[in-house]
Amino acid sequence: MEIRKVGVVGLGTMGAGIAQVSVQSGFETVGREVSDELGKRGRGTIERYLNRAVEKGRLSAGERDAALGRLTLTTDLADLGDCDLVIEAALEELDLKREIFSELDRITRPDAVLATNTSALSVSEIAEATERPERVVGMHFFNPAPVLPLVEIVRARKSADDTVEAAYEWAERAGKKPVRCNDTPGFIVNRILIPLLNDCVRVLDEAGVQPEEMDKAMTNGAGWPMGPCALIDLIGVDVHVHASDALHGTLGEGRMAPPERLVRMRDEGLACIVATEASSTSRSASACRRPDATLASASSRATSRRAVRSERVSSVMRRIFGAPSDVPLTHRDESGARHRTGPYGTLRRLQRFVSRRSTSGRPREAAKLSEPAAKTFAPAGVS
Ligand SMILES: NC(=O)c1ccc[n+]([C@@H]2O[C@H](COP(=O)([O-])OP(=O)(O)OC[C@H]3O[C@@H](n4cnc5c(N)ncnc54)[C@H](O)[C@@H]3O)[C@@H](O)[C@H]2O)c1
Repeated sequence: MEIRKVGVVGLGTMGAGIAQVSVQSGFETVGREVSDELGKRGRGTIERYLNRAVEKGRLSAGERDAALGRLTLTTDLADLGDCDLVIEAALEELDLKREIFSELDRITRPDAVLATNTSALSVSEIAEATERPERVVGMHFFNPAPVLPLVEIVRARKSADDTVEAAYEWAERAGKKPVRCNDTPGFIVNRILIPLLNDCVRVLDEAGVQPEEMDKAMTNGAGWPMGPCALIDLIGVDVHVHASDALHGTLGEGRMAPPERLVRMRDEGLACIVATEASSTSRSASACRRPDATLASASSRATSRRAVRSERVSSVMRRIFGAPSDVPLTHRDESGARHRTGPYGTLRRLQRFVSRRSTSGRPREAAKLSEPAAKTFAPAGVS
């Protein structure tokens, strides 16, 4: 069966990314959200990413418009009735997912492929909510879905071979690097990564290591592209604790259980290891405190996660540079309008500044950089 039309249930962090992958790869896509407002927000996220790709010359304006034209929004699950593949990316709750699959079973064609993006639940248990478990698979994308190539194609207990192959082929056509695996807890990457990250957090307390030092150790000593504490902050402490609990519940291994430090942070609504540790800067600590970690709506949790990531980078930069006034935070675009750049943009500009400084051999605008900043960003050999 050829997949032409795709449905995505939930346009949160993962669903919006998956819908973007789908429309960019040429598939008519229906995105279903629980309210019009959340639907528009999901579409806004996709539009923002596509606009950025146009600005960077990776996509033409025509391609962006065509991709957006392939996306339709709905709040009614029944509008996914003629989709060949439906990918569910709703909250990580078994009862909710089973309810959605039971409804999808009722409204879609019998040969449609139904996929779940669950990270830690059993795909087989979700599939059992339908009358056609042979047409159900896991399609585990990684965050951010438009950027990370891997998709784990998860074969549930009763998945038929042609269902697995249809999901695999679609992922390839969508430009991804799929791999097949069985429906075991954590699938491939999380099975390995979650206990590893938990070990790193335990070492913080056992060896008396500061989170930033831990990140420094693992990036410089093990070649990780990002430190474990920064990675947990990016994932979200609550999400990581939830995934650890799920793995521990099914596998029962001690290393899978979330470390006490993270459970405490989750219970206190803290979402950011590095800024919590450095909570002498009260702004960092409050930005890492979610107003209501357990009851917050999907959209406010996503917004809060973005704020935490952004605040984490800002707080690290504040500690490096001393005061925000040392860092130029605004720029003018071609029309002369003044924009505030995000901390990542600022960081990139500073890195460019330091590399120019290292090639020209003399510090430019040196007065704007504090001493510790220059040391931090100076490549080896440049004093
Ligand atoms: N965030 C990640 O890093 C990541 C990575 C891989 C897989 N996943 C999985 O993807 C799924 C979605 O995670 P997310 O991070 O995008 O979450 P999110 O909180 O950003 O989005 C959740 C979505 O669920 C929808 N939703 C909430 N209540 C609902 C209801 N009653 N009925 C239907 N939909 C409802 C929300 O509107 C939203 O679209 C989860 O299963 C998660 O485990 C997440």
